[in-house]
Amino acid sequence: MSGNHRGGGAMAGLFVVLLTVYFTTLSHASPTILSDLNAPKFRHSRLAKSAIQRQTSNEEQSQLWTPLEHQGWKPCSESDAASIPEKSEGYVQVFLDGGLNQQRMGICDAVVVAKILNATLVIPQLEVNPVWQDSSSFEDIFDVDHFINALKDDIAIVKELPDEFSWSTREYYGVAIRPTRIKTAPVHASANWYLENVSPVLQSYGIAAIAPFSHRLTFDNMPKYLQHLRCKVNFQALAFVPHIRQLGDALITRLRFPPSEDNMVSNNYLREVTDLKPKQGGGKFAVLHLRFDKDMAAHSACDFGGGKAENLALAKYRQVIWGGRVINSQFTDEELRSQGRCPLTPEEVGLLLAALGFDNNTRLYLASHKVYGGERRVSALRSLFPLMEDKKSLASSEERALIKGKASLLAAVDYYVGMHSDIFISASPGNMHNAMVGHRTYNNMKTIRPNMALLGQLFLNKTLTWPEFQESVIEGHENRQGQIRLRKPKQSLYTYPAPDCMCRA
Ligand SMILES: *[C@@H]1O[C@H](CO)[C@@H](O)[C@H](O)[C@H]1NC(C)=O
Ligand SMILES: *[C@@H]1O[C@H](CO)[C@@H](O)[C@H](O)[C@H]1NC(C)=O
Ligand SMILES: *[C@@H]1O[C@H](CO)[C@@H](O)[C@H](O)[C@H]1NC(C)=O
Repeated sequence: MSGNHRGGGAMAGLFVVLLTVYFTTLSHASPTILSDLNAPKFRHSRLAKSAIQRQTSNEEQSQLWTPLEHQGWKPCSESDAASIPEKSEGYVQVFLDGGLNQQRMGICDAVVVAKILNATLVIPQLEVNPVWQDSSSFEDIFDVDHFINALKDDIAIVKELPDEFSWSTREYYGVAIRPTRIKTAPVHASANWYLENVSPVLQSYGIAAIAPFSHRLTFDNMPKYLQHLRCKVNFQALAFVPHIRQLGDALITRLRFPPSEDNMVSNNYLREVTDLKPKQGGGKFAVLHLRFDKDMAAHSACDFGGGKAENLALAKYRQVIWGGRVINSQFTDEELRSQGRCPLTPEEVGLLLAALGFDNNTRLYLASHKVYGGERRVSALRSLFPLMEDKKSLASSEERALIKGKASLLAAVDYYVGMHSDIFISASPGNMHNAMVGHRTYNNMKTIRPNMALLGQLFLNKTLTWPEFQESVIEGHENRQGQIRLRKPKQSLYTYPAPDCMCRA
């Protein structure tokens, strides 16, 4: 996610933290800045007023919630030509940076690189991200025994290096140049690159530690069995640890069977309660993934209607983190909007969903790390969707104790709930978006991808009426609900699983 556009590494991360603390303190301490930050609740107040009073027909509702039709493709990631080499060529170790979903792709690629080299894979080590500060390990997030077992016919995996290699640690590579460290893997390296550059190291030393490793394996011109193996890792071998799945299941059950169930069951035709088993029957729900944090807001260089103080705060942030060098700052807000380069605010996402036909009884789960502007911004969305929920509203603090303050585990719960939702709306580009869009495509599940350029243009038009807005939105999203898009060269198989991970049915 933000790792992609930040060059400064740990120092920059430190600044993020310091700056956030600084501004938080400032806004509490200074009443003038506070009042400036108190922007009107709605920026698009005319549209919002109509949206709040919207009526949706039963027909619109049933069309919206109908699952995707079968599209002629089915999951297909059984790895063929599966066999473990008789003799391992050595150990492959990777250190993965980024957030949960970037690490996820790195894990899949690591399995394939080890396979290419006939090596034994050591369970990947997850680096602490400077922004999110989560030190959770692979074992803290993913079910490691399931992982090893699911891949046992493809590759040998060990949880830890044997004693003779126990010197090969992050610290060892951190302090000096070491011959067993592979530091120069190019972005999207080919299988041959690994054979030519890493095999000799394995032969000499019995171990190779590859870092950096993110995005270091090409998606193109790879043998089919290796692509299949990637799919198998991503869609079958990676399962979250039991306590994440249990919390996820509890949230899903509470979304499908809200407490006031008994009073509401008669007047809501969507609830087909016959059975109280989790994940069967019950009401439908949608998950909205919304990333609107300060980092993203600042990097976009757009104006989000928070007034002078907010624009100043974002400009300062750009200055500190990127030395002011942000491509978007060359453009006006209007230019950025019409090109679809401004992240949607919670209010704008709310208007999008209302226009698409989500009514005010929608069970909407907000998967969001931290919204810049806090409740002031979230409240605009909440007034359109009063039944909106999140981890906090659905689970007690005891239930959340194991994931509290751990960005990767929080993201894992959101991923799990997102994968079980009837409709997933991904309102922010990034690794979470890509991972969810890919995984839901694989399972043929409805996934709405906002048309950012269209929405940018519509929100710029100050005379548009609600019916005009709604008509354009519906038309502009007809083909953005999970229809299969075949992967093109250079694109990621984890975002576009067809045709590599899917077969025509
Ligand atoms: C939904 O909107 C209708 C009509 O505008 C209103 O009567 C109802 O109270 C709203 N429901 C909720 C849960 O806010
Ligand atoms: C891996 O093993 C296969 C047979 O099991 C062999 O054909 C291939 O050359 C080996 N590759 C390497 C890099 O050792
Ligand atoms: C705003 O939308 C209306 C209705 O579609 C259209 O007639 C008008 O030209 C648009 N205005 C701008 C500035 O694009």
